[in-house]
Amino acid sequence: MRYTGMMRDSILACNWKMNPGRRHEAETLYQGLVAASKALKASEIWIAPPTPFIDGLRERRIFKRLSLGAQDCSRFTMGAHTGEVSAAMLKEAGAQFVIVGHSERRAMGESDTDVNTKVQYALKARITVLLCVGEKLRDGDGEYLAVIASQVRSALMGVPKSASCRLVIAYEPVWAIGEHAAAPATPEDFRSVSIYIKKVVSEQVGAGAALSVPVLYGGSVSKDNAMGFLDEGHADGLLIGRESLKLSAMKTIIADAEALGRARAQRSRKHERTR
Ligand code: PGA
Repeated sequence: MRYTGMMRDSILACNWKMNPGRRHEAETLYQGLVAASKALKASEIWIAPPTPFIDGLRERRIFKRLSLGAQDCSRFTMGAHTGEVSAAMLKEAGAQFVIVGHSERRAMGESDTDVNTKVQYALKARITVLLCVGEKLRDGDGEYLAVIASQVRSALMGVPKSASCRLVIAYEPVWAIGEHAAAPATPEDFRSVSIYIKKVVSEQVGAGAALSVPVLYGGSVSKDNAMGFLDEGHADGLLIGRESLKLSAMKTIIADAEALGRARAQRSRKHERTR
């Protein structure tokens, strides 16, 4: 999973959180996604199931546009840390990416320093990092931008330019996440924040490397608003929570991402011909 080109696939990342309850349910959902996404040409499905399910699902991973990942990793590498699972262990279990800095982990006490340590260990284990950033509240004075910038800067502290090909950022405003969300952000909100995030990333790793870092939108993504974020919002993909547990909704989102990819490829071919 390395990103270098400008015409890139949409990443449709599914954060299953602590769902579903049973292994066989996870397998059924997973198989449904595999079937729905066999002919993908313009998008990739990334699935982060609960950690105990990763290893079993990996056996059924049959094509390269589908990736399995974890929802968190430890800020330690090994030793006497009861209950912790390191990035390297997740990699051995079959994780190709790991979500780091999700607001639900931050709400449980994860600090910016913890996030930075996890990012470093995951990159060292050669796992792609899906870093989540986002403000708790939107204020009218743009203070929230300083919050986002500080989250990005601290998470990427010490990350070498060469690791940027294993970095994906998800902008997830906390007020837009979960069933108690005020509302999803708008595609315009996302678009302006994602440009800002790319600018902050470029201060850390340089402009060239920053261009290869996809920025996804997350927070109450649904089959009804996904296309808006991908098309108007120019999102490089989506981080999908609740809706990713519904196969029929995911089928719609996948079909939308593929249709948009086809339309963009067609436009760029036309543009090439008329140059
Ligand atoms: P949601 O969750 O889509 O259920 O709002 C998104 C997330 O927390 O990543």
